[in-house]
Amino acid sequence: MVVTAVVAMMLWLYSDQVRTTEERARQQAENVHQMTMASITAMMLTGTVSQRAIYLDQVRNTQDINDLRVLRGMPVVALFGAGTGEAPTPAEQRVLDNGTAYFQHDSEQEVLTAILPAKAARNYLGKDCLGCHVNAKEGDVLGVVSMKISLKEATLATQRFVVNLALMIAAGLLVITLAIVTAWTTSSNRTAMMKWANFWQRWRSCNQI
Ligand code: HEC
Repeated sequence: MVVTAVVAMMLWLYSDQVRTTEERARQQAENVHQMTMASITAMMLTGTVSQRAIYLDQVRNTQDINDLRVLRGMPVVALFGAGTGEAPTPAEQRVLDNGTAYFQHDSEQEVLTAILPAKAARNYLGKDCLGCHVNAKEGDVLGVVSMKISLKEATLATQRFVVNLALMIAAGLLVITLAIVTAWTTSSNRTAMMKWANFWQRWRSCNQI
């Protein structure tokens, strides 16, 4: 009974932690997306978009970001050309087409793929996209920021936490069981147990629980 309850609790705790890890990674993806668009828009303003590889390389070298790419949508290609001409993956193409963010958690590789749209806006982080992207209207997908975030570290930390907790609970249960068994099998201890029970009753009534 107790063991089943503890195992159920552990499983629940683990799946909850996994969900939190993924939620945090999604939040991180949103941040990387914003930072990338802010940096690249600054480059658009200064006419140095061709140097975006320097920025992308730097972010790619940070701990958990395994891959980071910016792909341009039809309005940008039509106005400014194909750029680096990188071919989008089918998932990236879907986000370019429908403008809906895409997240996929590969639990085997422990990787979260995040593809977020960069939409034309009158005021995005203080910039007017339509001032230059004159062939687009508000809400059009100008491009996508595509990245892969490693969840390995976070998952390892979760596993370590749950295993440690399980060991602690198991050790605690073992000690309690041993104490009870020893107390019951030693008949001379039975009176001591009664005393403890009495004490426990009194403690409970004192503390009103
Ligand atoms: C100052 C003018 C200007 C503004 C403002 C501007 N862009 Fe651009 N944008 C450009 C130019 C020019 C290019 C193409 C550069 C090239 O091909 O080298 C471009 C390219 C892009 C690309 C493709 C980038 C790539 O790496 O291929 C995206 C996506 C984009 N813009 C989105 C936006 C969004 C979103 C905004 C508003 C926050 C915005 N732009 C504001 C001028 C601008």
